[in-house]
Amino acid sequence: MTTNVASLDEDKKKPQHIAIIMDGNGRWAQAQGKGRVAGHKAGVESVRAVVKGARKAQVKALTLFAFSSENWQRPAKEVSVLMDLFMFVLTREVKRLHKNNICFQVIGDLSRFSDKLQKSIKKSELLTADNTGLVLSVAANYGGRWDIANAAKQLASKVQKDEMLLEDINEHSLHKQTCLSGLPELDLLIRTGGDYRISNFLLWQSAYAEFYFTEILWPDFNEVEFEKAIDVFDQRERRFGKTGEQVKQIEK
Ligand code: IPE
Ligand code: IPE
Ligand code: MG
Repeated sequence: MTTNVASLDEDKKKPQHIAIIMDGNGRWAQAQGKGRVAGHKAGVESVRAVVKGARKAQVKALTLFAFSSENWQRPAKEVSVLMDLFMFVLTREVKRLHKNNICFQVIGDLSRFSDKLQKSIKKSELLTADNTGLVLSVAANYGGRWDIANAAKQLASKVQKDEMLLEDINEHSLHKQTCLSGLPELDLLIRTGGDYRISNFLLWQSAYAEFYFTEILWPDFNEVEFEKAIDVFDQRERRFGKTGEQVKQIEK
């Protein structure tokens, strides 16, 4: 049997779902003597690069943290530029996403966004809803605690309406009400920008994700860096509570 590079690649444990905390835009811009906004603008190119990388690696789902529920606390000017940028990128990029068979969605509490932005999001989601390729989820006004609290609220409402029994509230039924529940489990969580924290991102979903932290600032993150993260993931032993010996036994 001949072993070539392609077959070696197929042996790799591929992550099916990758999420990224895209951090370090402000510091990237400041390091160049520019305003923070320049960093957010430059970061759009890195988004394109990881979408391309995810398609190449045949990842099923890519989830990007664009704006947290805490980011409203930033100076009003920065928040407003971020909203404009979001709107601009959405209208400009969605056709390209559609052409590439990508299914696009936004997760988070959208009610705080302008009507115009909400409409644009809905339109983009509808356009790409039937696409069968990569599922690209952008987290905007998203918070992991909000997600869990919101799921609890949905379940409570079902019980109140007699659509569900109290006894049936468990981790499976709650999971179904959280964002991204229809996608493969989160395998790999990447954070750029050199900080070692989760900043209220996918708290529920990252229960057994592998974490990858890099010093690289988001605008400098590219396809090569993305591939590096996937390679590191491949080296990890995921035990899910079992012993290393048990895991090796299953793999045989
Ligand atoms: C991440 O970059 C983008 C958003 C949070 C919107 P930052 O803006 O947090 O950049 P740093 O961390 O200040 O460098
Ligand atoms: C997390 O980055 C949110 C996004 C990348 C969108 P932050 O820059 O807001 O995180 P903290 O405040 O440093 O934890
Ligand atoms: Mg930051």
